[in-house]
Amino acid sequence: MEYIICKNYEEVSLLGAAILAKQINKNPKSILGLATGSTPVGMYKKLVEMHKKSGLDFSEVKTFNLDEYYPIKKSNDQSYDYFMRDNLFSHINIKKENIHLPNGESSDPDKECAAYEKMIADAGGVDIQVLGIGVNGHVGFNEPENELKLATHLTGLTKNTIEVNSRFFKKIEDVPTKALTMGMGTINKAKSILLLITGKSKAPVVKKLFSGVVTTAVPASFLHLHPDVTVLLDEAAAELL
Ligand code: F6R
Repeated sequence: MEYIICKNYEEVSLLGAAILAKQINKNPKSILGLATGSTPVGMYKKLVEMHKKSGLDFSEVKTFNLDEYYPIKKSNDQSYDYFMRDNLFSHINIKKENIHLPNGESSDPDKECAAYEKMIADAGGVDIQVLGIGVNGHVGFNEPENELKLATHLTGLTKNTIEVNSRFFKKIEDVPTKALTMGMGTINKAKSILLLITGKSKAPVVKKLFSGVVTTAVPASFLHLHPDVTVLLDEAAAELL
């Protein structure tokens, strides 16, 4: 696991976008694994700028998002489907049929998860997976538990994640308590991984991540077992290293 400490959020966003743009320019048919949350918003803005100003071409790119609340309507402005359209997809030339997120409207979540896992494999696997990390060490919605699931699955959100995510909802009761998420195995099958971590609130979990152990108490620690992970940190997130 390599890490790069950038000055601030802006620099993390710029470097993250440059890494993704390099991948797309190298292989216009790249398969990107994408994340939501506040951290990648700046990077998505930069990618939109690169598309508009320098013609970064998404016409052959395919995307698979990490996770989606369950159940949730795509039209709900807190769904990850809505978030991705709002922050990225509506502003670039990606084809609708090349965009994939776990379907929060599915009536059969287990079937949906198995189909999602197969779709990723059939597409040839993710070339670069973008990740954020929760203050509790989660990646996707793989929460700290005794066991971590390998494949895409339906999961419950921890009290901590519900509280943290309630900042986006009118009231905490509105936060969905379940989600569909790629598993740690799905994530670690990506050919490369780009983990973005910014802000002081993440400093304690960054310290745990780099403490030299792999533990289900910090699901992100399993990324140490992947051969090609780049972590972009800002100085605030890196302050306890
Ligand atoms: C989002 C996701 C989550 C977030 C994490 C950090 O698709 O899977 O694991 O990456 O909760 O969220 P932010 O960036 O809002 O701190």
